[in-house]
Amino acid sequence: MPSLEALRIRHPEIRADYTIRQHWERYDAAAHGVWKTLYERQAKILPGRACDAFLEGLAKLNLVADAIPDLERLSDGLEKLTGWRVVTVPSLVPDETFFDHLANRRFPAGQFIRDASQLDYIEEPDIFHDVFGHVPMLAHPVFADYMQAYGKGGMRALTEFHALKNLARLYWYTVEFGLVEGPEGLRIYGSGIVSSRAESIYAVESSSPNRIGFDLERVMRTEYRIDDFQESYFVIRSFDDLFAETYKDFAALYTKLQAGPTYKPGDILATDRLHHRGTHAYVGGSHAAV
Ligand code: PHE
Ligand code: FE
Repeated sequence: MPSLEALRIRHPEIRADYTIRQHWERYDAAAHGVWKTLYERQAKILPGRACDAFLEGLAKLNLVADAIPDLERLSDGLEKLTGWRVVTVPSLVPDETFFDHLANRRFPAGQFIRDASQLDYIEEPDIFHDVFGHVPMLAHPVFADYMQAYGKGGMRALTEFHALKNLARLYWYTVEFGLVEGPEGLRIYGSGIVSSRAESIYAVESSSPNRIGFDLERVMRTEYRIDDFQESYFVIRSFDDLFAETYKDFAALYTKLQAGPTYKPGDILATDRLHHRGTHAYVGGSHAAV
């Protein structure tokens, strides 16, 4: 990750907390066009796959296909709902900066948008992933509290426990790649899934990945892959349940995690609660349910 000094070359006004002005007026038609293309692709496939909280968040925040959102205006709406704001950063920020933003109900979003030649894969999160993927869930009161608690916990994990590796897995398997049980089957809430067309379909419908009932210690022992679709997803029962499972002191757990096994992304344990596919599971089978 580039240092503040290095970033200052392209972003002379960058602040100590890595925030910059969005300069919304500088996005050109091609940039807005990429947002629109990506938005419309996802809007077509997410009903019935993304959870209600996500879809309701999009609607409540008036996030639309027309153009890259102006993050000040978006933040004014979001702040009224849950007290969160979205701030602009050049790209990834250092861990302690990231945690400090979350702990203060500020979500850092990258300023740039991917090129039209890279609709399906980017190496660093752009504004489509950060805003379309993450911000709708921040309009959900319990999820909003979870994200703030994560920021506070991140600071403790970093400075007191040296347990960032374990805590980062929790973020990965919930905030980025989480699934939730819904009345009609498994639904997506993870931003990394919801901002990807192919993974949105794969995560809900493919028979390939494991879908494992959420268990905090199990998740914190599980490595993840960043270069391909996930081999395992963890399924929460509800956002209340996720919050109840994590809003407790992790000190004893961090100690316990210093010993014992680490699991590979694709491992299945005898103790795992495995889910079968959601609403679309029976398509082609004898119980055509959709
Ligand atoms: N409970 C965690 C701790 O004691 C903090 C945390 C809360 C982390 C919610 C993630 C989500 O450090
Ligand atoms: Fe993300």
